Amino acid sequence: MGYRYIGSKDKLSEIIISEILEIDKNAKHIIDLMAGTGLFSLALRENGFSVSALDVMTYSYHHLKFHLLMNCAPKFNGVNNISEIKKDISINNYELVLDYLNKLKPTKGYFFNEFSPEGSTSNTSKPRKYFTSENASKIDSIRNEIKVLKNNNIITADEHSLLIHDLIMATNDVANIAGTYGHYLSKFVKRAESHLVLKPSKFSTIGSIEGHTISLGYAEELASSLSGDVCYIDPPYIKRQYAANYHILETIAREDFPEAIGESGLRPWRDQYSNFCSKVKIRDSFTKIIQGVNCRHILISYSEDGLIPISELTTFLSQFGKVNRKNIEYKRFKSNDSTKKPTLHEYLIHIEKH
Ligand SMILES: C[S@@+](CC[C@H](N)C(=O)[O-])C[C@H]1O[C@@H](n2cnc3c(N)ncnc32)[C@H](O)[C@@H]1O
Repeated sequence: MGYRYIGSKDKLSEIIISEILEIDKNAKHIIDLMAGTGLFSLALRENGFSVSALDVMTYSYHHLKFHLLMNCAPKFNGVNNISEIKKDISINNYELVLDYLNKLKPTKGYFFNEFSPEGSTSNTSKPRKYFTSENASKIDSIRNEIKVLKNNNIITADEHSLLIHDLIMATNDVANIAGTYGHYLSKFVKRAESHLVLKPSKFSTIGSIEGHTISLGYAEELASSLSGDVCYIDPPYIKRQYAANYHILETIAREDFPEAIGESGLRPWRDQYSNFCSKVKIRDSFTKIIQGVNCRHILISYSEDGLIPISELTTFLSQFGKVNRKNIEYKRFKSNDSTKKPTLHEYLIHIEKH
């Protein structure tokens, strides 16, 4: 399944990059302020830019480290300290570690109990069906071991991020969901019944891995510490909070054991609440970011389906500088609502600050 991420700009990256170059043909350093999967940041790197990328979600931080800071497998020199791993010169240390993690004995832990049909949840009577019991217990054993390897300094911080990235990608492949983790499906689909396997990631060798920075936190708070030629902002545009819709990935990334609340088993997520999902708070957040960031050009993606009608948003943004808006017709993220058109307009709003 790969990544079904609401609002991912994977397919629009070419258009957005040509817009960036139209704004400033000499642009070198781009801020990607709500970087999500990190795929747009990777496209920037592959097009020769250096990037300052940021997101409020921890899983994004790990994806960004993989996409921006790596062009080949890290060395994993610490494998020599894992007695169960037998040196094999035909494969590299990274693949040895993945093989070791894939062969761990499944454990009936937090994921098994909270997210699989045979588990016993801590605060509801109904077991959840995000994963088969086998896959949930594999996630438990792999997740626990990655944490142990990190805590014992057997893997470096970058190696740790790569393994978390790999576990998230493997989890996405077997999750029993319709797109996001907002809820699980009542019956296991075929994909979810396949076995969870960590697969070696493919490293991009295009573009430099130098000159990038990655931050974890709120754009409103960190924008003033960032500077660049163009600041790209890709905010949520609907009410659905990323922290609620991708709670399971966040739990993998944070390596914790939060209370799983309600039927969907959401982690307490208010600490990652986004103001961009609120009609009342969104203007305040745009103001803080646009005024704070050290950048003359701001480029914002927004959608026809957005909480704020595009004309209203454009008028609001005009107070910060000269505004220019472009329309892109875009294929809609899968929706069960048959009244919705299959395509929608995505807007690119350029602000040249006063
Ligand atoms: C539309 S998605 C970005 C998708 C991304 N461009 C990609 O291609 O994957 C919006 C992102 O904004 C992040 N976000 C929401 N509010 C934020 C805030 N106030 N500060 C930082 N990140 C925020 C969400 O976690 C989410 O990853």
